[in-house]
Amino acid sequence: MIVVPGPASQILGVEIATLLQNAIIAPIKFKQFPDGEVYVRIEKEVKDEHILIVQSTYPPQDYHLMQLYQLIDAAKTSGARKISLFVPYLAYSRQDKKFLEGEPLSSKIICKIIETLGADEIYFLDIHSKIILEMFSIPAHNLIAFDLFGQYFHELTLQDPMIIAPDEGALEKAQRAAALMKCPSTYIQKARDRYTGETTITFKEMNVANRDLILIDDIISTGGTMAKAIEMAKKQGAKKVYAVCSHPLLIENAKTRILQAGATEIIGTNSVDSECAKISIAPLFVKKFEEP
Ligand code: R5P
Repeated sequence: MIVVPGPASQILGVEIATLLQNAIIAPIKFKQFPDGEVYVRIEKEVKDEHILIVQSTYPPQDYHLMQLYQLIDAAKTSGARKISLFVPYLAYSRQDKKFLEGEPLSSKIICKIIETLGADEIYFLDIHSKIILEMFSIPAHNLIAFDLFGQYFHELTLQDPMIIAPDEGALEKAQRAAALMKCPSTYIQKARDRYTGETTITFKEMNVANRDLILIDDIISTGGTMAKAIEMAKKQGAKKVYAVCSHPLLIENAKTRILQAGATEIIGTNSVDSECAKISIAPLFVKKFEEP
């Protein structure tokens, strides 16, 4: 087995290669030409080998996607026997439907390219929409990080903890972590304007006074959803508030927004290379990948 740590997931890729049995790492060369075009090269013979490419596609997503496509093509055209992909964060996964007439189905475009290039199987982490898994005809697996969050917080001393999903879509995942921590969970109603992208949350009495809260979402992008949810919880007397997510994109001033809203800490996984990536998904992936 040869592990190719993509440019966007070098630390994660090496960690996975270290945990896998009998895996070696293929060094890669990558650069950007002066006109912006991307270049990668796998600097190892991969003919007849099983290749695992680890490359997340967080922002700049088109750049990281192109690197992923190039790595798949390089492995395929160099004669790799089998190509497995671990793409913890899949860019465009929030564009899984045509919300308005005239829009493209962006996530399907990516699935089609990946398959056409010759990948044999793919793994994601907490994919935003399970519909995407069905867009593939190759095996597509989804790993769940929410158990890791449950374990992480179970080891901290929290006061009367409660888990909150900042929108209904994240409730099922929040409930998994809550089951592990044996604590209650609830969700906040969020709505997004399909034209402006602006989100609004509906006031909800949550019985959070003097409790430590864990707010869990799959993605934190601008931090707007989290910040609004934290403000609402703080106004109701919440004590510590942890802003937790699988994919800490944290673009622009998201960190400031969330901390200013009253968060104690922002905690994410290393699905994204970020200073907030405090939980490693490598053991979770290796366990699933090595399952018979
Ligand atoms: C959307 O449905 C996702 O689950 C997240 O809630 C959303 O992507 C967060 O975005 P932002 O941080 O920009 O509010």
